Amino acid sequence: LEKRELQSLVDKMSLKEKIGQLTQFTPQYLGREDGELTGIMGDFAVDQVYLDSLGSVLNATDRNEVIAMQREHLKKDRLKIPLVFMRDIIHGYRTTFPIPLGLGATFAPQLVEEVSHVAGTESAREGIQVTFSPMADLCRDARWGRVMEGTGEDPVLNAQMAAAMVRGYQGAPGELVKDPTRIAACVKHYAGYGAVLAGRDYNNVDFSRLSLYQDYLPAFQAAIEAGAKLIMPAFTLFEGLPATASEYLLKKVLREYLKFDGVAISDWGSVGKLLTMHIADSQERASELALNAGLDMDMMAGAFVRGLSDAVAAKKVAVEDVDRAVLRMLNLKNDLGLFENPYRFIDAHETLPPAPSSESRRYARVAAEKSVVLLKNKNVLPISVKSHIAVTGPLAASQRILGAWSSYGKHDDAVSLYAGLKKQFENVSLIPDPISSDPADYANFDVIIVGLGEREDDSGESACKTRIELPEDQVALIRRLQHTGKPIIGVIFAGRPLALTNVVPYLDGLLYAWFPGTEGGNALANLISGKAVPEGHLPMTFPRTTGQVPIYYNEPRNGSPADDQHPTKFTSRYVDCQNSPLYPFGYGLSYGHIEYGKLQVNQPVLTDDQPIQITVAVTNDSDYRSSTLVQCYVGSTITSVVRPVSELKSWVKVVLEPNQTDQVTLTISVDDLAYVHSNLERFADKGDFIVRIGENAEEYQELTLTYQ
Ligand code: IFM
Repeated sequence: LEKRELQSLVDKMSLKEKIGQLTQFTPQYLGREDGELTGIMGDFAVDQVYLDSLGSVLNATDRNEVIAMQREHLKKDRLKIPLVFMRDIIHGYRTTFPIPLGLGATFAPQLVEEVSHVAGTESAREGIQVTFSPMADLCRDARWGRVMEGTGEDPVLNAQMAAAMVRGYQGAPGELVKDPTRIAACVKHYAGYGAVLAGRDYNNVDFSRLSLYQDYLPAFQAAIEAGAKLIMPAFTLFEGLPATASEYLLKKVLREYLKFDGVAISDWGSVGKLLTMHIADSQERASELALNAGLDMDMMAGAFVRGLSDAVAAKKVAVEDVDRAVLRMLNLKNDLGLFENPYRFIDAHETLPPAPSSESRRYARVAAEKSVVLLKNKNVLPISVKSHIAVTGPLAASQRILGAWSSYGKHDDAVSLYAGLKKQFENVSLIPDPISSDPADYANFDVIIVGLGEREDDSGESACKTRIELPEDQVALIRRLQHTGKPIIGVIFAGRPLALTNVVPYLDGLLYAWFPGTEGGNALANLISGKAVPEGHLPMTFPRTTGQVPIYYNEPRNGSPADDQHPTKFTSRYVDCQNSPLYPFGYGLSYGHIEYGKLQVNQPVLTDDQPIQITVAVTNDSDYRSSTLVQCYVGSTITSVVRPVSELKSWVKVVLEPNQTDQVTLTISVDDLAYVHSNLERFADKGDFIVRIGENAEEYQELTLTYQ
């Protein structure tokens, strides 16, 4: 439709129809019977006009449900405005890809874009038109269960990944309306949800505006610039106000600074939570606060249908503001082509093979291979396909490796570690409960592979921990197996960084698999046999112990820096643990060894129009195909506000054959030096700066250069 046709629809709507349009419910909540909504929500019955003019449905599962509901809806809605169907497609619809934290570990935005496109395609064919992804939250606290949904602790990595996901779901500008494989993206949770105190979900949050602009906004900005059609305010607070009712966040920053013109949809029940947080004393007041702050749509609170018309009648909310929100909803539907085709290409997919197809499995396998991080290798990996392998541990044969938020993923589709190994290795024995550690019982084996880690529901929403060490029984298992005298390879499945200090010394090899998804076992078998080489790198710092959390590489300097090697009193440190992590951000081994040459710089002085190029030769001086992630960090010398020592700016992934050398060039421009000053403006200071290039946040060569 033309813009003026959308406006004329708004003009024809009654206030109740407008409020219906700004409301989203799940079918279950509305008591759906045979495609009809009864509107009974506990002891509250939703007025029929709201139901007939409902704007959106959350969590319809598949095309049958979507078709039935849309058909019924269009019979009833006076103005025939189609419903829009939304669902959380976080790392795949049916084919499940690695959890987003694992996708972060690939450091491969192009791959993440492709994978998101596959996820979007599978969703679109089932009638899902909007996904609540990407989760662009900065994650620094591994106790928080939702770190699995983000891509880690670095604003630049998060920004690149969030933008890649948006492009993967939506395609290039204008494609959404015509491409049957595209869906709209809702970036969330705006902003700072990851900063929940003590890593406890929904807990209090308090950070500065400086940090908002510097640390938390960049990934949202990138998603918005990539075209994200929706945004979801966080459950949490900013400066004492729930994001859902924060005019500063939803108007000043979102609309004015970030220039977002899409739909702001609340998180589940968030408008109602204004009452729980004692910000509002009635549904009317809650609706008023949220709508006036700039929220467009109420997900699952039923607050707008209970209170918004009273707020308008009391002149607390202007009809023009309701109209603006409705117009944004209609724009979204128009961008999706729903007015022309309310079933949105469902038919176009009928000839596609059912998911997971061999093609989608291929993507899932490649993504899983590239997400796994090799943390330790005492010359034990890769192993020959002829080796005699004992496979054991609680997750060795488990298909519960999809991870939380796996939408419509089925565990039966998943390939376990054991199943993957069995296909590729000639002699694999599963030892379900290894009571014995008598060397004689293991005499016939060359190596023991142990599947360890967390349960899938130990991470995700409302799945936080006070201890991120491996469970005691798993630690005991590893220690027992050590007595066999055989090399032990640990494969850890987890939705967060774990503190692995008490098991690493007992392992000869360690692969960190996150939750790798449908093709996990095949990907791991490829890595273990050497068919694929490890390329993953840590997108979050791994602590030695839970007590160090939150620990992240880019923390601002402090006035009493400690030196782990020479600890002294009155420095910023612990008396019972070093400050350094067990594994730093960016860490990840490959099978061979790659030597970095000396840094070569094309010019020592950076100017506004002349970026600097730094080149480094990387040589594979081993007998294995090998990969390295050349990471470029920038640090400043003297700054107007206290800054981190180093911040990642760019990276290049290289895979080299034995004896192969490559020249890698990284470019530094003025934008890489820019940071947010006290006045919240982002710009670079003239003067000296430091460039660090290396394999992780702690191992690098550095150069001091000048910006003039
Ligand atoms: O998208 C999610 C959000 O991340 C957490 N609360 C529920 C929403 C919809 O399912």
